[in-house]
Amino acid sequence: MTKTISVAILAAGLGTRMKSKKAKVLHRAGGLSLVEHVVRGALEITAAENIVVVVGHQAAEVKAVLAPYGVRFAEQTEQHGTGHALQMTEPLLGRADGHLIVLYGDCPLLQVSTIRELVKRQASDDVAATLITTFLNDPHGYGRIVRNDAGDVSAIVEQKALAAGQEEIREINSGIYCFRTDLLWPHLAALKPNPKSGEIYLTDIVEALAADGKRVAPMVVDDAAELLGINTRVELAEVDAIFRQRKVRQLMLDGVTVEKPATVTVDLDVEIGIDTTVEPFAQILGKTRIGSDCKVGMGSVIRDSELADGVQVEAYSFVGTSRVAAGAHVGPFARLRMDNDVGPGAHIGNFVELKKTRLGAGSKAMHLAYLGDSVIGQGVNVGAGTITCNYDGEKKHRTEIGDGAFVGSNSTLVAPVTVEAGSYIGAGSVITDRVPEGTLALGRARQVIKEGWQRKKKS
Ligand code: UD1
Ligand code: CA
Repeated sequence: MTKTISVAILAAGLGTRMKSKKAKVLHRAGGLSLVEHVVRGALEITAAENIVVVVGHQAAEVKAVLAPYGVRFAEQTEQHGTGHALQMTEPLLGRADGHLIVLYGDCPLLQVSTIRELVKRQASDDVAATLITTFLNDPHGYGRIVRNDAGDVSAIVEQKALAAGQEEIREINSGIYCFRTDLLWPHLAALKPNPKSGEIYLTDIVEALAADGKRVAPMVVDDAAELLGINTRVELAEVDAIFRQRKVRQLMLDGVTVEKPATVTVDLDVEIGIDTTVEPFAQILGKTRIGSDCKVGMGSVIRDSELADGVQVEAYSFVGTSRVAAGAHVGPFARLRMDNDVGPGAHIGNFVELKKTRLGAGSKAMHLAYLGDSVIGQGVNVGAGTITCNYDGEKKHRTEIGDGAFVGSNSTLVAPVTVEAGSYIGAGSVITDRVPEGTLALGRARQVIKEGWQRKKKS
């Protein structure tokens, strides 16, 4: 029978050096909060029910962010140290027939392959624990690894407790461990608080296991960058840049043209088809999916949206939670605010805003319009400056425009109102009533000419 692998993710701390009201693990890199990266990695190793996140600071917010992943939570209401944090998981993970991996919620660059290797070593070496270490030129601040003659770890000494000569130890504790659970739980429960700080240090378990005649093996990782825990916003930005670089590089390898890639921001879950071009300073965020042969113009922001094949988004446009069908054009300077459906081959031009609007196939709104809460058919022409008055100060109302209608420039459509198929609205009209199919509606004052007016005024 294979042994159960559990994962405990410690994420209860505030992270004082972030100088933030927000818990550190909620800060984002690569478009995901830090703890999400760690949880995603853990989910590659074991099932969600075997993963417990220890939450404390802003527990409700952290839980909300992680809810979609199905992992479990242990509360550590007061933070009394890493050992204390792990103790909180025993009621949920306290089985004695497997291995438990400890990860930190603020360590998002750790590769899944490294965790796999850790588990493999632990399983094959018949040791009580395996812990990831690395050698740093500047080990200051980290727990240092003390080894015995056999090369096993006999103790971890925290910076503050270093004895003379231990300052020189360059091998540090990453804080990532794999424990045999039959030995972990009894030794963890027996840990004593540090006499100076009153905290229970997980690192003390190494000495306790050694004293019990059990082996703790080091697993040295060469790439220390992977083990980087984020402490400040400077490190956050560095890690964000690494995620962005990886993502954009992968897109390029998969057939997407990215111009000036260092300026482009693409979230990790974004998908883009081949031969699409992403111009400088574009931001493609959230769960966005973009087809092939599209263009995302310079400085555009696309968030949680779907763009079918051949969609052209020109410079400085915004597309939020909207669907844009094949071959449609958007922008420059267009705003698809939210929940829009733009039909195939439709055109949305400069300074046009759409909100909760369906624009049918081939329809056009080329300049300076606001279309809100509207259902617009196919082949409709919406003239420059057309406004749907969808809000009466209390409620939102719908505007419907049938296939092939022509809405003259600067029309004001006072909702609720229906403009039927094939009808025509004269420029500058204020439309308050239904416009029947195939009619011409004029809702404006007639032009008046006053002969000789200029002469009369002078005399
Ligand atoms: C810890 C290790 C140190 C190691 C370093 C690597 C201990 C005593 N020391 O030190 O050997 O070199 O990590 O980065 O373990 N946390 C809780 N509850 C608590 C305390 C911490 O959930 O009560 C969480 C924090 O949110 C954080 C993680 O545990 O994600 C590490 O805690 P931190 O205080 O940063 O430990 P270090 O002092 O860095
Ligand atoms: Ca730390």
